[in-house]
Amino acid sequence: MTTTKISFSIFVVVLASMVFLVVATIWNFQPSENILDESEPALLLPASSIFIRSIGEPIMVWSSLDTWKKCRLIDVPDIPARVFVTNTTHTHRNPNLQMICGAVGYHEMHGPSLLNQTRSCDISWNATKDGDPSHFAGNEFIDSTVRFDNGTVIALIHTEYPGERYNACDTAVTEKERESDDSSSQPERQRRYFDALNLQNPLTYPTCWMVTIGLGISFDWGHTWQHIAEPPHHLVAAVPYTYKQEFPAYGWGDPNNIVRNPNDGYYYVTVWNRNQVGVQGPGICVMRTNDLMDPKSWRAWNGSKFAVPFVDPYRVFTPSKREFDPKDHVCETLDIPGTTREDCNMFGVLWNNDLRQFIGTVGCDTDPNKRNTFFFTTSTDVIHWSPIQEMYHRSRDLPPEVAAMTTSIHYPTLLDSGSFSKYGDTNFYTVGKTPYLFWTGTGHSPYKDGRHLWATPMEVGTDDSFSMVVR
Ligand SMILES: *[C@@H]1O[C@H](CO)[C@@H](O)[C@H](O)[C@H]1NC(C)=O
Ligand SMILES: *[C@@H]1O[C@H](CO)[C@@H](O)[C@H](O)[C@H]1NC(C)=O
Ligand SMILES: *[C@@H]1O[C@H](CO)[C@@H](O)[C@H](O)[C@H]1NC(C)=O
Ligand SMILES: *[C@@H]1O[C@H](CO)[C@@H](O)[C@H](O)[C@H]1NC(C)=O
Ligand SMILES: *[C@@H]1O[C@H](CO)[C@@H](O)[C@H](O)[C@H]1NC(C)=O
Repeated sequence: MTTTKISFSIFVVVLASMVFLVVATIWNFQPSENILDESEPALLLPASSIFIRSIGEPIMVWSSLDTWKKCRLIDVPDIPARVFVTNTTHTHRNPNLQMICGAVGYHEMHGPSLLNQTRSCDISWNATKDGDPSHFAGNEFIDSTVRFDNGTVIALIHTEYPGERYNACDTAVTEKERESDDSSSQPERQRRYFDALNLQNPLTYPTCWMVTIGLGISFDWGHTWQHIAEPPHHLVAAVPYTYKQEFPAYGWGDPNNIVRNPNDGYYYVTVWNRNQVGVQGPGICVMRTNDLMDPKSWRAWNGSKFAVPFVDPYRVFTPSKREFDPKDHVCETLDIPGTTREDCNMFGVLWNNDLRQFIGTVGCDTDPNKRNTFFFTTSTDVIHWSPIQEMYHRSRDLPPEVAAMTTSIHYPTLLDSGSFSKYGDTNFYTVGKTPYLFWTGTGHSPYKDGRHLWATPMEVGTDDSFSMVVR
């Protein structure tokens, strides 16, 4: 494996002793028509009455083993699957869906449907692999795309800086620190991480590892990519600390998909920091912008407002201030009941038209009790989330032949075939009652049963007692 990613009007209605909270500022989150009529109060279901469960066997969308045989290269699904429809004018009858799901070499994958995708052997964009951490352009993964009608697509770039690959990791120091670490929490976390990934070489993770988010742009529907500006000016989000090998794996990375709120014109996304670093706590951070073309326009949540600007920790001098204060650049991370901030990330945020809520898809790779399970949580504002509930389990839900080639499961997100055709959402974050759960299964060996991208048919529903109140 070449990568070390993974690491993601108020009413209170009392009805038969059930309390429905109806939030004044429900996102009228409709990519197409059907905007919620403000005059009609909407009923919101309590999250606990919502279920998401599998209703069929997983379908293989892409096997990295096929890529190995056909292209003689190791290319794996190492981010959650993202998809958008390209030119809707000439693809009206035969839509072309471009799927983004890869590693540090960007390969095109597209096809007429979610399940019929062809991966190209050609690399159409290579990670920059710049060894200078202050350029934020090391091991780059294209993720979180938004396409526009003119063929322009933007992407958040998850950018890892694995110091040991860039001669920026003194392993003698790393060893010494590991020995002196009697709490053993970091080595244990590291062991679990590499167990989960089935990596042979533990390298030096979690030390010597930093991650940041950059901004990429394509002018040809995602065929080719470039930085929106010369690095480091493409930087979207970094914690306010420079690369330090001794800090355990840190920084903003692992973004989920970008969603737009038509009410305020802002685009929202979450990013994840795995460990406390200085004054920045671990966990999931929500940030937003109203200008996707400007990497500096994103503002993070501070607990009450989207008011926190990100800073480039290497370029500390500003006209007004000699040096910045890290405290001015801290994101207040989400409190999702049932999760630990260090272990769990949200890999997808999907708008569900029937529930009129967001569904967040959650994986907890380093929690030994949760790592074989995918969870979901729901929200009306992407900040307040319901307690997580199980939706998929490796030992319970996989048929034997799939289980035999799957040692761990990662990167859960939902995609719906009708997202564009039914809901008019060209960026595929709208899901209905029967989406697919897209996820990555890791096998034993890249040459025998490698990583696979799977799609499991799911049902999104509500308990019977509530079916009468939901259309
Ligand atoms: C999948 O898509 C290709 C075009 O990319 C088409 O030729 C093929 O018939 C499709 N396969 C199925 C099973 O629909
Ligand atoms: C990416 O790198 C590979 C290996 O060095 C090279 O063969 C290929 O031409 C590069 N592709 C692009 C688009 O730069
Ligand atoms: C989309 O397709 C139409 C019809 O083929 C073409 O005229 C138009 O230039 C295309 N738009 C883009 C942005 O590629
Ligand atoms: C394409 O459309 C987007 C959104 O309207 C706009 O910001 C961008 O500048 C356009 N790109 C080009 C190359 O015209
Ligand atoms: C968040 O930012 C706003 C605007 O700058 C400020 O008024 C508020 O006190 C901040 N809240 C917290 C919890 O820091």
